[in-house]
Amino acid sequence: MERLDKIISHAFSLSRTDAKKAIKSGEVCVGGEVVKDSSLKADYSSVTLGGKRAEHEEHIYIMLNKPAGVVSASESRSEKTVIDLVPEHLRRKGLFPAGRLDKDTVGFVLITDDGAFAHDILSPRKHIEKTYLVRTDKPMPLSLEEQFKNGVTLYDGSECMPADLKICKDKPDEAVVKIKEGKYHQIKRMFRVNSLSVEYLKRTAMGKLELDKSLKEGECRKLSKEEINKIKE
Ligand code: URA
Repeated sequence: MERLDKIISHAFSLSRTDAKKAIKSGEVCVGGEVVKDSSLKADYSSVTLGGKRAEHEEHIYIMLNKPAGVVSASESRSEKTVIDLVPEHLRRKGLFPAGRLDKDTVGFVLITDDGAFAHDILSPRKHIEKTYLVRTDKPMPLSLEEQFKNGVTLYDGSECMPADLKICKDKPDEAVVKIKEGKYHQIKRMFRVNSLSVEYLKRTAMGKLELDKSLKEGECRKLSKEEINKIKE
Protein backbone atom coordinates (compact mmCIF):
# COMPACT_ATOMS: atom_id res chain seq x y z
CA MET A 1 0.00 0.00 0.00
CA GLU A 2 1.25 3.44 -0.95
CA ARG A 3 -0.01 6.99 -0.56
CA LEU A 4 -2.37 7.96 -3.36
CA ASP A 5 -0.29 10.97 -4.48
CA LYS A 6 2.79 8.74 -4.73
CA ILE A 7 0.90 6.18 -6.82
CA ILE A 8 -0.42 8.85 -9.21
CA SER A 9 2.96 10.55 -9.46
CA HIS A 10 4.85 7.32 -10.22
CA ALA A 11 2.28 5.64 -12.46
CA PHE A 12 1.56 8.71 -14.60
CA SER A 13 4.94 10.49 -14.39
CA LEU A 14 3.48 13.57 -12.71
CA SER A 15 5.17 15.74 -10.12
CA ARG A 16 3.84 15.25 -6.60
CA THR A 17 2.18 18.70 -6.83
CA ASP A 18 0.37 17.83 -10.09
CA ALA A 19 -0.64 14.45 -8.66
CA LYS A 20 -2.18 16.20 -5.65
CA LYS A 21 -4.01 18.63 -7.96
CA ALA A 22 -5.44 15.75 -10.02
CA ILE A 23 -6.63 14.05 -6.82
CA LYS A 24 -8.21 17.29 -5.50
CA SER A 25 -10.01 17.84 -8.79
CA GLY A 26 -11.83 14.49 -8.52
CA GLU A 27 -10.12 12.72 -11.43
CA VAL A 28 -8.80 9.92 -9.25
CA CYS A 29 -10.81 6.88 -8.13
CA VAL A 30 -9.95 4.09 -5.70
CA GLY A 31 -12.01 0.97 -6.20
CA GLY A 32 -14.33 2.98 -8.47
CA GLU A 33 -15.02 5.73 -5.92
CA VAL A 34 -13.69 9.27 -6.24
CA VAL A 35 -11.12 9.97 -3.52
CA LYS A 36 -9.85 13.50 -2.85
CA ASP A 37 -7.49 12.70 0.03
CA SER A 38 -3.88 12.44 -1.22
CA SER A 39 -2.69 10.75 1.96
CA LEU A 40 -5.02 7.76 1.62
CA LYS A 41 -3.15 4.49 1.15
CA ALA A 42 -4.13 2.18 -1.66
CA ASP A 43 -2.92 -0.58 -3.98
CA TYR A 44 -1.90 0.37 -7.51
CA SER A 45 -4.42 -2.05 -9.04
CA SER A 46 -7.38 -0.26 -7.42
CA VAL A 47 -6.42 3.26 -8.58
CA THR A 48 -7.46 5.06 -11.79
CA LEU A 49 -6.76 8.54 -13.15
CA GLY A 50 -9.31 9.76 -15.69
CA GLY A 51 -10.42 6.13 -16.06
CA LYS A 52 -6.90 4.85 -16.77
CA ARG A 53 -5.56 2.22 -14.38
CA ALA A 54 -2.35 2.94 -12.45
CA GLU A 55 0.26 0.36 -13.41
CA HIS A 56 2.91 -0.55 -10.93
CA GLU A 57 6.27 -0.93 -12.64
CA GLU A 58 8.86 -2.72 -10.61
CA HIS A 59 11.75 -0.74 -12.08
CA ILE A 60 12.35 2.54 -13.85
CA TYR A 61 14.66 3.24 -16.82
CA ILE A 62 15.60 6.82 -17.61
CA MET A 63 17.46 8.29 -20.58
CA LEU A 64 19.54 11.35 -19.63
CA ASN A 65 21.36 13.67 -22.00
CA LYS A 66 24.33 14.29 -19.74
CA PRO A 67 25.96 17.71 -19.87
CA ALA A 68 29.70 18.20 -19.31
CA GLY A 69 30.80 18.88 -15.74
CA VAL A 70 28.49 16.32 -14.11
CA VAL A 71 29.82 13.06 -12.67
CA SER A 72 28.36 9.61 -13.46
CA ALA A 73 27.87 8.57 -9.85
CA SER A 74 24.94 8.14 -7.49
CA GLU A 75 26.42 10.37 -4.81
CA SER A 76 29.17 12.89 -4.46
CA ARG A 77 29.98 15.25 -1.61
CA SER A 78 31.37 17.97 -3.77
CA GLU A 79 30.17 17.48 -7.34
CA LYS A 80 26.89 17.46 -9.19
CA THR A 81 25.87 13.94 -10.18
CA VAL A 82 23.68 12.56 -12.96
CA ILE A 83 21.16 11.54 -10.26
CA ASP A 84 20.85 15.19 -9.20
CA LEU A 85 19.46 15.89 -12.69
CA VAL A 86 16.54 13.43 -12.34
CA PRO A 87 13.30 15.33 -11.69
CA GLU A 88 11.27 14.51 -8.60
CA HIS A 89 8.54 12.50 -10.35
CA LEU A 90 11.12 10.06 -11.79
CA ARG A 91 13.01 9.65 -8.52
CA ARG A 92 13.12 6.23 -6.89
CA LYS A 93 15.20 4.68 -4.16
CA GLY A 94 18.38 3.06 -5.45
CA LEU A 95 18.79 4.92 -8.76
CA PHE A 96 22.24 4.69 -10.31
CA PRO A 97 23.86 5.24 -13.73
CA ALA A 98 24.25 1.97 -15.67
CA GLY A 99 27.72 2.64 -16.99
CA ARG A 100 29.86 5.71 -16.61
CA LEU A 101 30.73 8.56 -18.88
CA ASP A 102 33.70 10.75 -17.99
CA LYS A 103 32.94 14.12 -16.41
CA ASP A 104 33.66 15.93 -19.69
CA THR A 105 31.78 13.42 -21.90
CA VAL A 106 28.21 14.32 -22.88
CA GLY A 107 25.22 12.35 -24.11
CA PHE A 108 23.23 9.23 -23.33
CA VAL A 109 23.39 7.90 -19.78
CA LEU A 110 20.93 5.23 -18.70
CA ILE A 111 19.75 5.62 -15.13
CA THR A 112 17.86 2.81 -13.43
CA ASP A 113 17.13 1.03 -10.17
CA ASP A 114 17.38 -2.39 -11.86
CA GLY A 115 20.75 -3.89 -10.91
CA ALA A 116 20.30 -7.13 -12.88
CA PHE A 117 19.47 -5.24 -16.10
CA ALA A 118 22.48 -2.94 -15.67
CA HIS A 119 24.78 -5.89 -15.05
CA ASP A 120 23.43 -7.57 -18.15
CA ILE A 121 23.89 -4.65 -20.56
CA LEU A 122 27.32 -3.73 -19.20
CA SER A 123 28.82 -7.19 -19.52
CA PRO A 124 31.35 -7.18 -22.40
CA ARG A 125 30.18 -10.73 -23.14
CA LYS A 126 26.79 -9.33 -24.17
CA HIS A 127 28.48 -7.28 -26.92
CA ILE A 128 26.12 -4.35 -26.57
CA GLU A 129 27.38 -1.62 -28.83
CA LYS A 130 27.76 1.93 -27.56
CA THR A 131 27.98 4.61 -30.22
CA TYR A 132 29.95 7.83 -29.79
CA LEU A 133 30.66 10.97 -31.77
CA VAL A 134 34.25 11.98 -31.34
CA ARG A 135 36.37 14.97 -32.31
CA THR A 136 40.14 14.88 -32.03
CA ASP A 137 42.79 17.61 -31.90
CA LYS A 138 44.22 16.57 -35.28
CA PRO A 139 42.85 14.84 -38.40
CA MET A 140 42.60 11.05 -38.09
CA PRO A 141 44.57 9.00 -40.62
CA LEU A 142 42.35 6.68 -42.63
CA SER A 143 44.45 3.69 -41.51
CA LEU A 144 42.90 4.11 -38.05
CA GLU A 145 39.64 2.53 -39.29
CA GLU A 146 41.49 -0.73 -40.01
CA GLN A 147 43.40 -0.55 -36.73
CA PHE A 148 40.19 -0.13 -34.71
CA LYS A 149 38.67 -3.07 -36.59
CA ASN A 150 41.59 -5.29 -35.64
CA GLY A 151 41.47 -4.29 -31.96
CA VAL A 152 43.61 -1.51 -30.46
CA THR A 153 46.28 -2.36 -27.87
CA LEU A 154 46.37 0.29 -25.15
CA TYR A 155 49.53 1.65 -23.48
CA ASP A 156 49.06 -0.70 -20.51
CA GLY A 157 49.13 -3.67 -22.90
CA SER A 158 45.43 -4.47 -22.64
CA GLU A 159 43.70 -5.37 -25.87
CA CYS A 160 40.41 -3.82 -26.96
CA MET A 161 37.76 -5.79 -28.78
CA PRO A 162 37.30 -4.89 -32.46
CA ALA A 163 35.65 -1.49 -32.77
CA ASP A 164 33.95 0.25 -35.64
CA LEU A 165 35.40 3.63 -36.63
CA LYS A 166 33.97 5.76 -39.44
CA ILE A 167 35.89 8.96 -40.05
CA CYS A 168 33.86 11.82 -41.56
CA LYS A 169 34.90 12.31 -45.18
CA ASP A 170 34.79 16.09 -45.14
CA LYS A 171 35.92 16.52 -41.50
CA PRO A 172 38.75 14.06 -40.73
CA ASP A 173 38.98 15.22 -37.11
CA GLU A 174 35.45 13.86 -36.54
CA ALA A 175 34.22 10.28 -36.45
CA VAL A 176 31.58 7.86 -35.23
CA VAL A 177 33.00 5.09 -33.02
CA LYS A 178 31.19 1.97 -31.83
CA ILE A 179 32.65 -0.07 -28.98
CA LYS A 180 31.32 -3.16 -27.23
CA GLU A 181 33.05 -2.85 -23.87
CA GLY A 182 33.65 -0.08 -21.38
CA LYS A 183 37.23 0.04 -20.16
CA TYR A 184 38.19 3.09 -18.12
CA HIS A 185 38.58 6.11 -20.49
CA GLN A 186 38.55 3.58 -23.31
CA ILE A 187 37.96 5.80 -26.33
CA LYS A 188 40.37 8.48 -25.16
CA ARG A 189 43.02 5.79 -24.63
CA MET A 190 42.35 4.20 -28.04
CA PHE A 191 43.12 7.54 -29.66
CA ARG A 192 45.99 8.35 -27.28
CA VAL A 193 48.04 5.36 -28.52
CA ASN A 194 47.68 6.96 -31.93
CA SER A 195 48.95 10.33 -30.66
CA LEU A 196 45.51 11.89 -30.93
CA SER A 197 43.73 13.68 -28.14
CA VAL A 198 39.93 13.56 -27.79
CA GLU A 199 38.50 17.06 -27.58
CA TYR A 200 34.79 16.21 -27.66
CA LEU A 201 33.01 12.96 -26.90
CA LYS A 202 29.27 12.31 -26.99
CA ARG A 203 27.47 9.00 -26.53
CA THR A 204 24.63 8.90 -29.03
CA ALA A 205 23.28 5.34 -28.68
CA MET A 206 23.27 2.21 -26.54
CA GLY A 207 22.48 -0.88 -28.58
CA LYS A 208 19.82 0.14 -31.09
CA LEU A 209 18.42 2.83 -28.82
CA GLU A 210 19.44 6.31 -29.92
CA LEU A 211 19.63 9.36 -27.71
CA ASP A 212 16.37 11.27 -28.11
CA LYS A 213 17.32 14.37 -30.10
CA SER A 214 14.60 16.42 -28.43
CA LEU A 215 16.32 16.07 -25.03
CA LYS A 216 18.47 19.10 -24.31
CA GLU A 217 21.64 18.63 -22.28
CA GLY A 218 20.62 18.08 -18.66
CA GLU A 219 17.17 16.77 -19.59
CA CYS A 220 15.89 13.24 -19.15
CA ARG A 221 12.80 11.12 -19.67
CA LYS A 222 11.44 7.71 -18.81
CA LEU A 223 11.88 4.94 -21.38
CA SER A 224 9.10 2.71 -22.64
CA LYS A 225 9.33 -1.10 -22.60
CA GLU A 226 9.95 -1.13 -26.37
CA GLU A 227 12.80 1.35 -25.99
CA ILE A 228 14.38 -0.65 -23.17
CA ASN A 229 14.33 -3.76 -25.36
CA LYS A 230 16.12 -1.86 -28.13
CA ILE A 231 19.17 -1.50 -25.88
CA LYS A 232 19.61 -5.28 -25.93
CA GLU A 233 19.08 -5.67 -29.68
N1 URA B 1 35.40 6.40 -23.50
C1 URA B 1 36.01 7.44 -22.86
O1 URA B 1 37.21 7.63 -23.01
N2 URA B 1 35.26 8.23 -22.09
C2 URA B 1 33.93 8.07 -21.92
O2 URA B 1 33.30 8.85 -21.21
C3 URA B 1 33.31 7.00 -22.59
C4 URA B 1 34.06 6.18 -23.38
